[in-house]
Amino acid sequence: MLGPPEDLKDKVILEIGSGAAQCSRWLAAQGAHPVALDLSHRQLQHALRIDGGAVPLVEADAGALPFADGSFDLACSAYGALPFVADPVRVLRDVHRVLRPGGRFVFSVTHPIRWAFPDEPGPEGLSVAASYFDRTPYVEQDDEGRAVYVEHHRTVGDRVRDIVAGGFRLVDLVEPQWPAWNTQEWGGWSPLRGNLIPGTAIFVCERS
Ligand SMILES: C[S@@+](CC[C@H](N)C(=O)[O-])C[C@H]1O[C@@H](n2cnc3c(N)ncnc32)[C@H](O)[C@@H]1O
Repeated sequence: MLGPPEDLKDKVILEIGSGAAQCSRWLAAQGAHPVALDLSHRQLQHALRIDGGAVPLVEADAGALPFADGSFDLACSAYGALPFVADPVRVLRDVHRVLRPGGRFVFSVTHPIRWAFPDEPGPEGLSVAASYFDRTPYVEQDDEGRAVYVEHHRTVGDRVRDIVAGGFRLVDLVEPQWPAWNTQEWGGWSPLRGNLIPGTAIFVCERS
């Protein structure tokens, strides 16, 4: 969705919410020049441990990118940053700023429809248990009541409006189907659910 692998060669690519930078390492293997950005020092330490610093790492907030305007050809994110910020338009505007005209930002999130279902791999994960329209964030707290994990729900329509408000044009919305070869269960992910409801939404955006 960023383009055919052969077109990635020599492209300067920003990965947002990179975690341990798996995507950036794949991009580097295609001949691209990725920069992996994450808020978490710990995640970036994992990246450093894995590749010894082969991919440049930046510890920063996706809503306050420490780069000059038009620094990147492309940007991407695999489930990174956007689901965890209360103001996704701020992130989108900043990604728009650091991209060159015509550059794409491709990002994935857990498919918004999943918000309505329990995060269970079996049949109990197939019955609607919450309102798709309820935007109350999911919050986990520590013993002192401090929020240690916050995830924000946006409907598909919210995401489209955020993308437009961020200055992008939405080129495609991809909802990958569960591949027949994958028989694995992991958390709420399973072939049973994957064959019936989408698990991931990938938004392909273009900077004007
Ligand atoms: C679900 S993980 C995805 C990691 C990686 N992209 C992957 O596919 O394994 C989400 C990542 O987003 C990062 N993140 C959350 N909020 C962020 C923010 N405001 N700015 C930058 N990164 C953020 C987290 O630290 C975490 O590494």
